[in-house]
Amino acid sequence: MWLYIVLGLIALALYVFKSCKYDYWEKKGIPIASGNEWFFGHFRPLILVKKHMNEVIDDIYKEFPNAPMVGYYVMGVPGLMVKDLDMIKTILVSEFSSFNSNGFEIDKNADRLASAHPFVLKGDEWKSARAQVTPSLSLVKLKGYLPSVLKVGDEMVKYVKNNCIGATEVDVQDLARMYGTDVIGSAIYGIENNTFENGDSLVSYITREIRFERDVSDNILLFFQRCPVIRSFYPARFSSKKLQDVVVTVTRKVIQERIASGEKRNDLIQLLLIQKESDTQGVFTDEYMSAQVFTIIGDLYDSASNFITIILAVLSRHPVIQEKLRSEIKEVKSRNNGIFSVEDIEGAKYLEMVFNETFRLFSFFIPRQCNNDCTIPVPGSKPITITKGTQIAIPACSIHKDPKYYPDPEKFDPERFTEEEVAKRPKFTYMPFGEGPKKCIGNRIVTLHIKAAIIKILDNFKLTPSSKTKYPFEIDPRHTFTIRPKGDVWVTFEPIQ
Ligand code: HEM
Repeated sequence: MWLYIVLGLIALALYVFKSCKYDYWEKKGIPIASGNEWFFGHFRPLILVKKHMNEVIDDIYKEFPNAPMVGYYVMGVPGLMVKDLDMIKTILVSEFSSFNSNGFEIDKNADRLASAHPFVLKGDEWKSARAQVTPSLSLVKLKGYLPSVLKVGDEMVKYVKNNCIGATEVDVQDLARMYGTDVIGSAIYGIENNTFENGDSLVSYITREIRFERDVSDNILLFFQRCPVIRSFYPARFSSKKLQDVVVTVTRKVIQERIASGEKRNDLIQLLLIQKESDTQGVFTDEYMSAQVFTIIGDLYDSASNFITIILAVLSRHPVIQEKLRSEIKEVKSRNNGIFSVEDIEGAKYLEMVFNETFRLFSFFIPRQCNNDCTIPVPGSKPITITKGTQIAIPACSIHKDPKYYPDPEKFDPERFTEEEVAKRPKFTYMPFGEGPKKCIGNRIVTLHIKAAIIKILDNFKLTPSSKTKYPFEIDPRHTFTIRPKGDVWVTFEPIQ
């Protein structure tokens, strides 16, 4: 045992020593962010869970305000932050074939669910996985899902009303998670959970296991997994064995019940069963269908709960914006006898502006990896050759807060997203869902899901700040790859008579 550990450590030390290239950017004449430390490179605060990924990205972004790109290192590996908007377009769109992956890898045997997610796949596997998930997110499907999403919204309102005595403080993170669990239950599995009445629903077994928190050892392992020896001991995975088993068991159970009853529903399972009927090659196994389900659940549950939490907290601090939004919701509602269609929700202009402004302030960066040596133009300078294997960071989160594009960037101001204001800004200054052929395919379903919750809440409650939550809130550094406020988020709800 000890012999293996010692040999593993020697292999690791040799690997780190061999792969550390700390003068790589100097030799190319690219400016380097300060704070480069041996072993960690620029990412020590991230790896040690002291800062969120966005803060680390922002520190690098701000250091050379006029540079089109800045070099950095992550544990000896060179990375390039590309800040110039034309270069960003080249990488994400025009030269996509040379930057068509993001460097994340998940081992198929260690994680049979997350390894099928288009985000981590490459080449033909990526193309076909993306094509297979896309039909479940079409407009027709969204129209089918919406009534059950709105019904869950009504249950959420009933739950809050039953628990509100006048103005009452509500933990909105908790509320959003219950809502997310039930939306997944109905839109994906066709199960009416009512988590608001019974916290122990079938789908809550899954959502309880979806965890994006990472600790120091997870972060270190993530970087060491580039080393083949370490990968053979610790294959890269996202979901725990327990989460994988629960998703496969629940999916299998729902499929068997659906086939036995012959019932037809407007959910993802039904769509997969229809596709299975014409599957002559035996692709649609229970595990395959579970992976399809997981691609949507994994993203939808956590991201939507976080954004619902953030928007409710932000609206509670901005009473004028909240009131203007409520008036629009009431107007759309009265125009349609109280029934909201996908078109009504997507067509509500102020709601869209409030969303865009929230996504502007709470976005992530876009990762890419160079898969062929590629020479790209640099404005005002000679072209640069980016070599195979270089990690690329497109700092969408920092561009969204750059005063050059968004004056007074920390101010929450939906008016930045009127058609006239959007037309004034250059392209690639707003990318919360990425850009180019790898752009997020879940933007429509997730926005609909979040908007339905906000509509139901604002239609029924006035929101004011709670003294229990400090604002602006901090982003939890343990959530390296998602944006979640640190700690509970409380908002005061007052029923509107
Ligand atoms: C607030 C919620 C969400 C945000 C902010 C978000 C953002 C993003 C971003 C920035 C990317 C990377 C794009 C790129 O590399 O250019 C991405 C990829 C992706 N997202 Fe989302 N996403 C969200 C929710 C969802 C949901 C709910 C789903 C599924 C239903 C989803 C499915 C995907 C998929 C499949 C990819 C990989 C696309 C590819 O590599 O081809 N996302 N998302």
